[in-house]
Amino acid sequence: MAGANRTDEGTQPPEGKHLPTATAERPSTRNGEVPHPVSVVVVTQATHSDIPEICALYKRVWDDYKGKLPEELIKTWEPSTLEFTSWMEGVTYFAARKDKRVVGVVGCSLLQGAVQLVHLAVDPEARRAGIASSLVGACMEWARRAGAASLWVEAQNRFDGAIALFRKLGFTESGTLHKHFLHEDVHLYERVL
Ligand SMILES: CC(C)(COP(=O)(O)OP(=O)(O)OC[C@H]1O[C@@H](n2cnc3c(N)ncnc32)[C@H](O)[C@@H]1OP(=O)(O)O)[C@@H](O)C(=O)NCCC(=O)NCCS
Repeated sequence: MAGANRTDEGTQPPEGKHLPTATAERPSTRNGEVPHPVSVVVVTQATHSDIPEICALYKRVWDDYKGKLPEELIKTWEPSTLEFTSWMEGVTYFAARKDKRVVGVVGCSLLQGAVQLVHLAVDPEARRAGIASSLVGACMEWARRAGAASLWVEAQNRFDGAIALFRKLGFTESGTLHKHFLHEDVHLYERVL
């Protein structure tokens, strides 16, 4: 997998402590040339000030599916800033930034010792660079610190990229909820910590 220059720093444990901020590493110079700074992906817990950027990201991601997915489904996943504010109640969101721009987001919520991942999305222009892996990694770290025993996520078969990602990260399919989400089957993937 690509993404050797990403860092997972800045994730916060449930109690909200700050970890050190990531810094870009510079490659060694040749003939005294000053190299361009390397882009680093930084994952941090999202705050209310990130809401407009996160909503814009969801819009970029799901607008791409217009005509390919039911309109109702797209609407559900493109929250207004007000809707996202209410999503944040009881759910911890992590945002990935590249060059200070939000390029990925995921939510996680702890219920009875298990953490559910929700609303994972990565900017179409920033894919296959390890960003979703870093975000899920942040959730795993958060889950461990919270004392959770497992993580789980719902996915519909049409999201084959997401399913490949979860499998690569050690999730296994553990069941199906029939006609569960807007009348569609949803498959459950879990990873025991
Ligand atoms: C699915 C998604 C989150 C993946 O984000 P990403 O940052 O590109 O994922 P990563 O770079 O961390 O991928 C890690 C690995 O997962 C697998 N993977 C990710 N996307 C894949 C795709 N489209 N097809 C096949 N495998 C894929 C690959 O094994 C990849 O490793 P590789 O690039 O070395 O081959 C992104 O494509 C997305 O936002 N899709 C639309 C929204 C969505 O599907 N959300 C999840 C709903 S359940």
